[in-house]
Order: sequence, then structure tokens, then C-alpha cells
Amino acid sequence: MVDVEKFIETAVREIRDAAGAEKVVMALSGGVDSSVCAALATRAIGDRLIPIYVDTGLMRKGETEQIRSLFADADLRVVDAADEYFEALAGITDPEEKRKAIGAKFVRIFEREAKRTGATLLLQGTIYPDRVESEGGIKSHHNVGGMPLDIEFSGLIEPIADLYKDEVREVAGGLGLPAEIQYRMPFPGPGLAVRVLGEVTREKIVVVREANAIVEECLVEEFHPWQCFAALLGLGTGMKGNARLHGWIVAVRAVQSRDGMTADPLHLPYEALSRMAARITEIPGVARVVYDVTPKPPATIEYE
Ligand code: XMP
Repeated sequence: MVDVEKFIETAVREIRDAAGAEKVVMALSGGVDSSVCAALATRAIGDRLIPIYVDTGLMRKGETEQIRSLFADADLRVVDAADEYFEALAGITDPEEKRKAIGAKFVRIFEREAKRTGATLLLQGTIYPDRVESEGGIKSHHNVGGMPLDIEFSGLIEPIADLYKDEVREVAGGLGLPAEIQYRMPFPGPGLAVRVLGEVTREKIVVVREANAIVEECLVEEFHPWQCFAALLGLGTGMKGNARLHGWIVAVRAVQSRDGMTADPLHLPYEALSRMAARITEIPGVARVVYDVTPKPPATIEYE
């Protein structure tokens, strides 16, 4: 539990001190972490904060349009970087290499935008579990361990680096952010890239994006998971008419958690699973659907 009012007051003061007279860029994804940071920084430095939304091509269905309308009042710069990301990811199959490539691309785009806008500082919505898991060597969160060391900013501001996810949500409430943002499901920085095993291709992203949208439609309102999504595990045999064919195996993950550090699979009714699977197998190229019943630990929530 945090003392929300005190946290906001201190964070605003610290951002103001750290920024001095400089301009600050930040990645605004529309998730609760970056939205809280944007609200704190706007209070601290007003329009010297330059929020940037990067469409990596790895976002969920309709996400870019939704962010544009949610932040219609903020002076949000939208960078279409999908081609750059797919190019950077081509041929990479190792999960850590994928995260590093995404992290590197992210920083380069921000360096570029910072130069364009005259910003010298980078603000990030890193939260406590991101740091623990990167420092502990579990994996590189794209905004921590994946950061190239030759970063060209004169400084990094991380206002919520000591908070857990549920505390960030409390602060979001204290800042008066809409419930849609306050309770938004977590979505990883590397996006759908960590939800396809092996190489990231446009074809796989199209399939996983569609499957993910179905999972959210089927589960969010009815079962209120902490997080739910679809992932592409690989190719397996299926049937179309009388013919055997190779199609995608889609895994569905739905978990309850307090802060993402541990998680338990949702006990979903069989009928709900079955309805969802029927819809997912309507996506061209999908052969079968499996439901992941592994807690964290020993599994992680994401697949890579
Ligand atoms: P894992 O897979 O580590 O996920 O059990 C725990 C929570 O963190 C999210 N996650 C990330 N968030 N950058 C992020 O901003 C990342 O690289 C990243 N990797 C995982 C994941 O979605 C889950 O909520």
C-alpha cells in the first residue's frame, strides 16, 4: 500500500528537479504505467513533456486507434515504426535476442525523436517487478535489461520504479485517470512478439493478434482475469474437409495475480473454453487450441 497523495507530491517534485529546464520524451503506450508517468510528468513540467506512442506493428487489434482517441487532448506524437521492427526481428529466433532487438529499436527511435524535439532526457514507466526480474536474470524486460548501453540521453527518469502494479493502479486513481486506463490489463513492452515462439513474421502476428482479440472478448468482461491472451506455439497437424494440413497451435493463457510476480491459471468452465476454441479455429491457418494450466512459477506468464 502506498500513501497516494504523498507519493504523487514527491514524484512530481522529483521529476521537476530531475528535468530542470530540459525537455523530456517518454513512451506512452496507454497502459497504466506509462499513463501514470505521463500524468505525473505533466503536473511536474507541463508541455516540456513530449509523449510518444510507437506503433511497433506488434500491438493488439485496434490499439493504436484506441490510444489516439484516449489521448486526443494530449500532444501525442504517433510514430509508425512497424516496418523497422519487422526488419529488426527478421531471422531472430532466440527469445533473449528478440527482446534485445526490440529494446535496441525502442531506444534508437526515442533518440531520434528526442533529437527532433530537442529533448535530452528519457522518462520510463519501469516498475519494481521489471527491475527485479531483469536484475535477477530471468529475462530482459524491454525497458530495462534490453536497453543498449550507448544510450544518448543525458539522463533517465523512472518515477514509478519502486511501485508494484497494484500500487500503480492506486496512484492512477489518485491522479483521476479514467477507469479504462486504471484497470487496463498489462501488456508487455515487446508486444505480440513475445507471444509467438521463434521468428516474428507479419503472418504470425496477424494470426496471434486475431486470436488475442477473441480471447479478450471471450474472457475479460465475464471472468475478469488479471491478464489473458493468446500465443502461437508452432505448427501442428489439423484438418480442413478431408485433408490433413499444417496449422498453428494457439495457446490460451488466463491468470489471476496480484503483481505479476506469481500467477494462477483461471479455472474456466469447459463450455467457455470450448466456445472460445471454436471461434479461434475459425481464424485461417489455425489448427488447434490448448489452454495453459501452469501457474507461475514454474512457468512465466508470457511465453518468451
Ligand atoms: P512474466 O512473463 O515475466 O510476466 O511472468 C510478468 C508480467 O510482466 C509482463 N511483461 C512485460 N512487461 N516489458 C513489459 O513492460 C516486458 O518485457 C515484459 N515481459 C513480461 C507480462 O505481460 C506480465 O504481465
